[in-house]
Amino acid sequence: MRFVSITPNERPEIKSGRANNQVDYAAIEQEALSRIEGAGDPEALEGLRVEFLGKQGSISGLLKTLGKMTPEERQQTGPKIHGLREMVTGALASRKTALEAAALELRLASETIDLSLPAPDVPTGSVHPVSQVMDELAEIFADLGFAVASGPEIEDDWHNFTALNMPESHPARAMHDTFYFPDDAPNGGRMLLRTHTSPVQVRTMLAQGAPLRIIAPGRVYRSDSDATHTPMFHQVEGLVIDRDIHLGHLKWTLETFLKAFFEREDIVLRLRPSYFPFTEPSVEVDVGFAVEKGRRVLGGSGDDPGHAWMEMLGSGMVNRRVLEMSGLDPDEWQGFAFGVGVDRLAMLKYGMDDLRPFFDGDLRWLRHYGFSSFDQPTLSGGVGARA
Ligand code: DAH
Repeated sequence: MRFVSITPNERPEIKSGRANNQVDYAAIEQEALSRIEGAGDPEALEGLRVEFLGKQGSISGLLKTLGKMTPEERQQTGPKIHGLREMVTGALASRKTALEAAALELRLASETIDLSLPAPDVPTGSVHPVSQVMDELAEIFADLGFAVASGPEIEDDWHNFTALNMPESHPARAMHDTFYFPDDAPNGGRMLLRTHTSPVQVRTMLAQGAPLRIIAPGRVYRSDSDATHTPMFHQVEGLVIDRDIHLGHLKWTLETFLKAFFEREDIVLRLRPSYFPFTEPSVEVDVGFAVEKGRRVLGGSGDDPGHAWMEMLGSGMVNRRVLEMSGLDPDEWQGFAFGVGVDRLAMLKYGMDDLRPFFDGDLRWLRHYGFSSFDQPTLSGGVGARA
């Protein structure tokens, strides 16, 4: 006597291998196929799949009976049961495809897309002219072998003044309208908002030694406000330290930079003797310009008819005392430095006449003067590439 387990789904006639011979597989198939064909939605179809092919499914139950059959019975019945399973599996799949296609048809019929409608406006930001100009500066100076350096905006008195040859009583300090912090720093040096990017010179020389070729763009602060002055503005500092550096290197570098930046070959510089505590000799660099349609346009010598000179930037050979305080031997190393207002460069190149809106955050101004963020931050991206 053989015992067979009976699952709830098994029909009485398929409880034993012998009884299988009497199972009407064709009838089962007929019924299964017609029920599958009649399934009206994916859920009903899934219900049928479980009913027939699930772990406890009726066809799965039939498959289990194969194990209890004699080899002869199995040879005869096996193909029928496997064939039944294949038929049902195939029917389930094709009904599924048909139902999905019908659902898609229905969706396409009910949802219409009007491709002629304008796309909704996606708000996009723009690159601020100051960022654009800083990127342009980095690009130009990178081509000349300069790295970008940076320093803190909250600076100490020593780096901002003393190390730049402006000791405590130096009259040049008064010209800087400095924002001081109320408390003395622990080391006795007063903290302040840096008034220029020049302290980055000292910090970089102390940290990296010589030779050096850097620019240091960044924010600076002075207690000053009118159409061309804001309490916060931007400068870029330049510093080259090497052996045998002289004023000729300075002039060539500035000329190359200004021609590349303003994209004009006819930029003419005038070096005028000046005074800065941190350079000796010091030069003020003027650039020739003319007024066209009420706008200042750079180019030509300031001595040409209809032209004049415009003060552009301060520079000079780094003062020996600054080199010494920055840890370098001035008999071995020389260098030049310069400092330019970034906002001023932007105003001149892109034609703004008031500095204050630069920092007002007025979207109309930003949309007008901003640059497309999709352009590369290269010089070419800056030409006529307004957003
Ligand atoms: N630090 C100066 C200022 O803020 C600008 C300047 C002048 C920087 C001459 C320099 C320089 O490096 O050599 O007004």
